[in-house]
Amino acid sequence: MVITVEQLIKRAGDLPPIPQTAQKALLLIRNPDTNVSEIASIMAVDQVLTSLVLRWANSAYYGIGNQISTVQQAVMVLGLNTVQSLILASTVASYLDRPLPGYDLERGEMWKHAVGVATGARTLASRFGRQISEEAYHAGLICDIGKLAFEFLLRDVRVDRPEWEDLTFLELEHARFGIDHATLGAEMARRWNLPENLVSAIAFHHNPSQAGEHGRIAAAVHVADAAMMVLGYGIGKDGLQYKLDPVAMKILGLNENGMPELIECMTTQIQEIESFIGFDWKS
Ligand SMILES: [Fe+2]
Repeated sequence: MVITVEQLIKRAGDLPPIPQTAQKALLLIRNPDTNVSEIASIMAVDQVLTSLVLRWANSAYYGIGNQISTVQQAVMVLGLNTVQSLILASTVASYLDRPLPGYDLERGEMWKHAVGVATGARTLASRFGRQISEEAYHAGLICDIGKLAFEFLLRDVRVDRPEWEDLTFLELEHARFGIDHATLGAEMARRWNLPENLVSAIAFHHNPSQAGEHGRIAAAVHVADAAMMVLGYGIGKDGLQYKLDPVAMKILGLNENGMPELIECMTTQIQEIESFIGFDWKS
């Protein structure tokens, strides 16, 4: 069975597009010629974005107390990278919270997995500087977005068939349907006007050696994804056939000895997020 991207995206028609205001704000944030007040003006027309940045800027986490009253002040306190993360997280969070029966994922599992991968990818990419590590966080958060539109195809697919034993799950998706969740997710991100580094990291998060100039981000997401599998978060059907790409380890300057340290660091960070947002990861 071969299915086209168009058919799949049509099938995922119940996914609301990223709101116009969020898209405009993301475009402005990426433009080096834009100033904070332009970004704040766009965000200020959207109630959801306004309340989101004000809430975060006034949260105990930033230690300022309830002193931030305008979007512009909030954007300055949070910084553009955090604002970008908040916009992305708030717009995709509701999608990520749904159950994905095709991947054997219960409601909330994909969201937990996404936050964990994002956190791990940021840690791994921190050696390349703040900019790349924040980009890796965003990419990790939405790397599996294609699963939302893909999962219905997999509902009747059994993964214990011997002929698929040597395939990664991505290869299995491709062999069965002529497309995979990474390619589909990248196409969705492209249609949402997300930046090329995110599109590319989504497309190659299972094959980071093919990500070209965005290889570092894709590698960070890939290894963090593998670590989340080891940690046991968000393991569905596809987790059973996950292959860690050695090229990704090389790109990140990691060897096998580095994995336990990464996993320990991710566990701590996940626990911190849990206590900060009151999220119950074990539920
Ligand atoms: Fe994936």
